[in-house]
Amino acid sequence: MKLKKSFLLLCFLSCTLLLTNYLDLFDSCDKNQLINSSNRIINPHVYNYTLNSLVCGENKGKNLLLISLVCISPQNFDQRQLIRETWANISLFKSIRVVFLVGLPSNKTINDLLVLEKEKYNDIVQENFIDTYYNLTLKTIMGLKWVSEFCPMAKFTLKIDDDVVVNTPELIKYLQTLSYTENYYMGSLQKNARVRRNKESKWKMTYDEYQPKCYVPYHQGPAYILSTDMTGILFNLSQYNPLFKLEDVFMGMLISQTEANVFQIKEKYFLDSEYSLYYAKKLNRKNNFKLFAFTQHQDFRDIWNIFYNLSL
Ligand SMILES: *[C@@H]1O[C@H](CO)[C@@H](O)[C@H](O)[C@H]1NC(C)=O
Ligand SMILES: *[C@@H]1O[C@H](CO)[C@@H](O)[C@H](O)[C@H]1NC(C)=O
Ligand SMILES: *[C@@H]1O[C@H](CO)[C@@H](O)[C@H](O)[C@H]1NC(C)=O
Ligand SMILES: *[C@@H]1O[C@H](CO)[C@@H](O)[C@H](O)[C@H]1NC(C)=O
Ligand SMILES: *[C@@H]1O[C@H](CO)[C@@H](O)[C@H](O)[C@H]1NC(C)=O
Ligand SMILES: *[C@@H]1O[C@H](CO)[C@@H](O)[C@H](O)[C@H]1NC(C)=O
Repeated sequence: MKLKKSFLLLCFLSCTLLLTNYLDLFDSCDKNQLINSSNRIINPHVYNYTLNSLVCGENKGKNLLLISLVCISPQNFDQRQLIRETWANISLFKSIRVVFLVGLPSNKTINDLLVLEKEKYNDIVQENFIDTYYNLTLKTIMGLKWVSEFCPMAKFTLKIDDDVVVNTPELIKYLQTLSYTENYYMGSLQKNARVRRNKESKWKMTYDEYQPKCYVPYHQGPAYILSTDMTGILFNLSQYNPLFKLEDVFMGMLISQTEANVFQIKEKYFLDSEYSLYYAKKLNRKNNFKLFAFTQHQDFRDIWNIFYNLSL
């Protein structure tokens, strides 16, 4: 009996060891992350605007607190409308502006509809690269370029995905209290994030694409904030760095080459999309400090209603 037990224990231990070894769990990150920046332009942003928006006005956002860049697929017409009706309603929030960033859809009909939508709302910016998941980095670079050209006077720039609800009233209050308005990168920090090698992962990375075990610190892509002075600096810097297909990691790589203050505000996010509505329902007037909720599509409006009603 005893023998059997210790045998089982041994089995268990060696299996765990094998497994952890396989998963690389206790392997620490590389000490020096090599960022392959160059001293000459190796990644010129050659794309041109095919749709543009002047939402920040002739004074380029002089009186604005925030310009929001929503990364969204061209065909997500309903989601753009939902966003206009909820957190991005500029008749409720005069100190913010929102633009939707898109690339070229592969379907011509969709592009025709997009052109009509842009004429109606004047809040869409498009460049002539193909809109795909792994071109998101190009979209972020386009956003940096656009802000530095057309909205450089707005204090802050929010980069956000289309499935995130912004608690606009709280975000405005929060940004107004900050003493920093320059040299600033804020969000939900990933430190020593490990590279996914699993072929099934959306974030998979081959050794050819990227060798180190971990990434430099970066804020999670669904929502992060820059002080707007950073946008021109980062756009210029992006051209001296090889494109990296994960846009949030790419941003972290660029940031590591600047003097930016990296601020962690993870506690202000609902990161779990599945339970965001559940947590939102627990908020009350005294405890309403969440700025962003990652959502399941069907919860988007309910979460917004909770945020908005608490602000009244
Ligand atoms: C953008 O416009 C420039 C100047 O007209 C042109 O040389 C370049 O080829 C265009 N780029 C693309 C990707 O269309
Ligand atoms: C924004 O809010 C105002 C005031 O509540 C409302 O009249 C308007 O319809 C809203 N805009 C959109 C696009 O929903
Ligand atoms: C293009 O999009 C339209 C509108 O959504 C759709 O009816 C049509 O089937 C699409 N065409 C192709 C080739 O996917
Ligand atoms: C990104 O866009 C460029 C320009 O349209 C295109 O050539 C390339 O195939 C796209 N890349 C991906 C990964 O979709
Ligand atoms: C830098 O380039 C080398 C050689 O091409 C590559 O192995 C490595 O993964 C790259 N590092 C980054 C951070 O992209
Ligand atoms: C970016 O580069 C352009 C062209 O070299 C230069 O005019 C501009 O001042 C630079 N912007 C920043 C913020 O460094």
